[in-house]
Amino acid sequence: MNQKYWDDLSENFNERVFEIADNELNQALATTIKKLGKQYRTAGDFACGAGGTTAALAAHFEQVIAVDYAAKLLQQARKRVKGDNIRFVEVDLTKNKSTAIKVDVGFCINALIHPVAKKRKRIAATVFRSLNQGGKAVFIAPSLESYLRTYQVLAEYLVSAGKNRKKTVRKIAATAQKEIFSLVEGIADVGAVATKHYLHDEFAQLLEEVGFQVESVDRVEFPWAEVLDNAPEKLGKPYPWDWMITASR
Ligand SMILES: C[S@@+](CC[C@H](N)C(=O)[O-])C[C@H]1O[C@@H](n2cnc3c(N)ncnc32)[C@H](O)[C@@H]1O
Repeated sequence: MNQKYWDDLSENFNERVFEIADNELNQALATTIKKLGKQYRTAGDFACGAGGTTAALAAHFEQVIAVDYAAKLLQQARKRVKGDNIRFVEVDLTKNKSTAIKVDVGFCINALIHPVAKKRKRIAATVFRSLNQGGKAVFIAPSLESYLRTYQVLAEYLVSAGKNRKKTVRKIAATAQKEIFSLVEGIADVGAVATKHYLHDEFAQLLEEVGFQVESVDRVEFPWAEVLDNAPEKLGKPYPWDWMITASR
């Protein structure tokens, strides 16, 4: 999961990589962007990818700086999101001196997902350093609780549809064993790629460790089809979710 990995995904990025801004069901992120846009002037889209969140930020903030280290993705984002109030910048957020950027609100959406903890922490620290004093940050990351809950919801659904409970649970447990690379570290398969998933407390702790004050932890819900192939139409709430933390500097 390095720069080349992300650049290689640049073609049809929004079909190949899940963009929560376009897929959220409960409008948790959209509402937060709107609210913070009324209170603050400038926003940073840290690890903006192909610009999935950038357009929404540009609609609600006076100035937006969108940052990523994958040049091809930045190119896609430039094409996709037009506006005089957006500046795109190529920066590796794990580098210590990576940014002279200062914004009021930093958004970091599904970027703290590398299996190596040090890299994730460096990105979070860069977002912290890039905020004006009194500024806020919004982080979204995959939820480990949601990942595990999916197995339970699927098992209950299949049992209620008449499948044998013991056999169903055994089969799903075997799948889980293949998909969860490290339960202790929260590393699990997403599209055949080892991806960090967070427990609620763990995510908050990481942000506190780099200096943030955590203000709220919310769920950003998305459709079952994102996590289950041939998701049964009947599956409704509870939907799978990412964690969204709002924090201040
Ligand atoms: C899953 S995508 C999320 C993109 C976007 N935030 C969204 O929600 O659609 C992760 C993004 O993080 C970027 N990224 C990962 N590590 C980075 C780093 N060290 N510096 C800058 N960007 C990074 C990748 O290039 C990729 O665009």
